[in-house]
Amino acid sequence: MTQPAIRYEDVFASHVAEETFDVARIEGELPTALDGTLLRNGPGHLTIGDDALHYFDGLGMVASLTLHGGAARFANRHVRSKLYEAEMRAGRQLARRFFTNRPGGGVLDVTFGDTAQHDVIAFGDELVATGDSKHHRLRRDTLETLGEDRWGGLVGERDLMGPMPRVDAATGTLLGFVVKLGMLRRDEIVFVELDRARRVIRTASTRLARSYAVVHDLAFTDRWFVTSEMPGSVSPWAVARGKVPAFYATRWDGGPALITMVARDGSGEVVRVEGPKDVALVLHIANAFDDGDRVVLDVCAYDRVFDVAFLYPPGMRERVRPDATGSPNPTLQRWVVDVAKRSIVDVAVFPDARGDLPVVPAARRGRACRYVYLTTPDEPDGEIPDPNALVYLRRLTKADCGTGRVATWTAPRGQLVSQPGFAPRPGATDEDDGWLLSWVLDLVAGETHVAVLDARRIADGPVARVHLGTRLPMPSHASFAG
Ligand SMILES: [Fe+2]
Repeated sequence: MTQPAIRYEDVFASHVAEETFDVARIEGELPTALDGTLLRNGPGHLTIGDDALHYFDGLGMVASLTLHGGAARFANRHVRSKLYEAEMRAGRQLARRFFTNRPGGGVLDVTFGDTAQHDVIAFGDELVATGDSKHHRLRRDTLETLGEDRWGGLVGERDLMGPMPRVDAATGTLLGFVVKLGMLRRDEIVFVELDRARRVIRTASTRLARSYAVVHDLAFTDRWFVTSEMPGSVSPWAVARGKVPAFYATRWDGGPALITMVARDGSGEVVRVEGPKDVALVLHIANAFDDGDRVVLDVCAYDRVFDVAFLYPPGMRERVRPDATGSPNPTLQRWVVDVAKRSIVDVAVFPDARGDLPVVPAARRGRACRYVYLTTPDEPDGEIPDPNALVYLRRLTKADCGTGRVATWTAPRGQLVSQPGFAPRPGATDEDDGWLLSWVLDLVAGETHVAVLDARRIADGPVARVHLGTRLPMPSHASFAG
């Protein structure tokens, strides 16, 4: 029997409908103790009218799968950003993006739209959906957009909010940062902590180490805000000329990676350390924690600069980067920072723990943590467009940072997995006693389901699959809210 064809172009298909329904088809046994909501954000509209967009430039759509008593309820809503409203009305791409120029944009088309499609996390009674530079508040029950989040007026119109805010489970506070453009000085990065009532209770800031850097992820310990600066140099002329997307008007330095830590207590202390020479950049930090006077960082370390050409839909990527040969190969590393020496004094590389989009249990974030879960590209099999392109994620990986041991689940042929959410088992004491939940796009069946794996035995594969009966694009990030 011949196998059904895999249509990889379906990866780039939009999902337009908005629905709320109880899931009718659950395969296997959905644990009754599994209680909470799996969230995701990512592109919903990947084309607007006839205008196709890079994967990171689609308009944000948040979806949730709420699990209770062995049953599941699905909902999805597009984030009502200003850009969404305007482009839906116009039926075409109105604003330039970082990876996709505006059709007919020409010279001096330098206003960029915020797509609100990067991440979504629960904070108090609401959700926070993030994008390139802005956050939106959403209702937790209906996913309805409440409006932009400006942190009590601290964030100005031109400021760039970090796309990866985090909640410290110990304090219940939201940690984030905003980059304030420096004009004649270097940009300032302002770390912020908000209490449950969304009041800003703490800020701490520093200026970027270089004149240009992209700052993406946020980690924290009890004492430190932690981020990674990805330095490069941008050609304002090349951006303004508009011949290439802004991403390709930027030259990325390619290492060493630069970690920036700013004290949470407002003392103003700043620690910067360079990563190992062979690490080109760090995009996501899996976790960080204090260990006496040291800080332990679990990072996804790239061997070369991230390329995004394979996240263009077919037909566009050849125009932008006809020579693209795939993405780099990130691996998990554990770095130990000696704060007094201002340097990394120990590096453990886990070569079998490949991938990115890391996650640790929410309660362990910022605290000592042994297991990190990663999302891993497919192994080459001569069938997928590019085995190392990070869009073709087919595996979930569990890394034991104590022993270096790795366990992996590879999804069946034609299935792409997302960053998992970690759901702890109620009353669990072991760190890995819980479930991993991943949004799986099945390109053979033409349907998305959520795979539920026992986190202690991920190599055994899913214990349950929750079939949505509809196809969603792959999300950017996912998270679990208990
Ligand atoms: Fe991210």
